[in-house]
Amino acid sequence: MKTAILEATSENIVLCAIQLHDSQLVGIPTETVYGLASLAFDEVAIEKVFKAKERPTFDPLIVHVSQHARGSLSFLEYLSSLHLVELDKIDTHSKVIYENIMRAFWPGPLTVVLPKKKEVPDLVTSGLNTVAVRVPKHPVAIELIKAANSPLAAPSANRFGRISPTKALDVLEELNGRVLYILDGGSCEIGLESTVVEIKPGNEIRILRPGAITKEMLHAASDCKITEANHAYLTIAPGMLENHYAPGKPLFLIKPDYSNAPAIQAFIQKNFLDSCNASVVLNSRQSDLIFAEHFQYQVVEKQYFNINAGDENVARSFFKTLRTLDRSTSDFILSETYAHDSGIGHAICDRLTKAAMKL
Ligand code: TXA
Ligand code: MG
Repeated sequence: MKTAILEATSENIVLCAIQLHDSQLVGIPTETVYGLASLAFDEVAIEKVFKAKERPTFDPLIVHVSQHARGSLSFLEYLSSLHLVELDKIDTHSKVIYENIMRAFWPGPLTVVLPKKKEVPDLVTSGLNTVAVRVPKHPVAIELIKAANSPLAAPSANRFGRISPTKALDVLEELNGRVLYILDGGSCEIGLESTVVEIKPGNEIRILRPGAITKEMLHAASDCKITEANHAYLTIAPGMLENHYAPGKPLFLIKPDYSNAPAIQAFIQKNFLDSCNASVVLNSRQSDLIFAEHFQYQVVEKQYFNINAGDENVARSFFKTLRTLDRSTSDFILSETYAHDSGIGHAICDRLTKAAMKL
């Protein structure tokens, strides 16, 4: 199959919608990262999604909807009318919480896990009795959902476990020959995947994956206690696997006080006998001296997060930075821990930790 990047004109969006109805896959821009879309109720196409991504079938997909046809329905009633969500399985109090956070953050980078209707293919949800849903904000994604007149299942458009794509060319690099069309919607505004949440009994929202919708924002919109999934939980929330977003070469995460530098060096010495070319990402130029004190490798590529530019800016270019380091001729990547573990900085720390090799 030959993959083509298409300008996101109305004609091309309609062309892509027609192809989706022919069980083809389309790379789509969203405000978070690019997705690999198929019709949510088309099992033949969904099988192709898993195959194209080399994704294990135990890792469920997010279903993307637009709210253009919601009319006067509540969000939950609307999702029920789309044959996605089983309202009978949600208690009255939780319904209020769902509506509050959906009203506050949709369209946008929030994915909500809900009891599923039986019409949702098991392949989409990996056999779970819940379905993850979000309303994206990117106009091209919305136009395509409208033109297809169907919810779209769309995981991030990267091969499994690899760096998420934030522009059309990244999707081509990941999935050339495995997807028919990629709609070019420019660079993603947010740059990190959506926040994934579920609602638990006792006025609790649990974050399964941190993102641009932060715990502070969720608390303000719902007045709920906000918790984060721990690792024990992650083994049953598929996809929240420990090693994720990983570059093709090993990434070593340097602790803020550099206390693990000797352990990293010992590992490198043992495993990279002949050549020790590093690519490096530091918080800012202020780290240059301290880095040079600890590591004397040949640096073939150096990037900075530029922490002073603000966490939103860092998030936007985060995966691009990882891709640049990965493409270089280095044998491994050394990264400082991102300096701000709050707001969207928390999601940056999460992605870095997941990309890093556990020593
Ligand atoms: O921003 C995003 O969410 C992007 C864009 C394309 O929308 N999509 C994305 O999809 O990141 P993906 O497949 O790469 O990540 C989806 C995450 C996975 O970690 C998956 O395990 C989790 O959502 N997920 C999906 N359904 C779930 C469910 N029923 N229960 C718990 N977690 C679920
Ligand atoms: Mg992904």
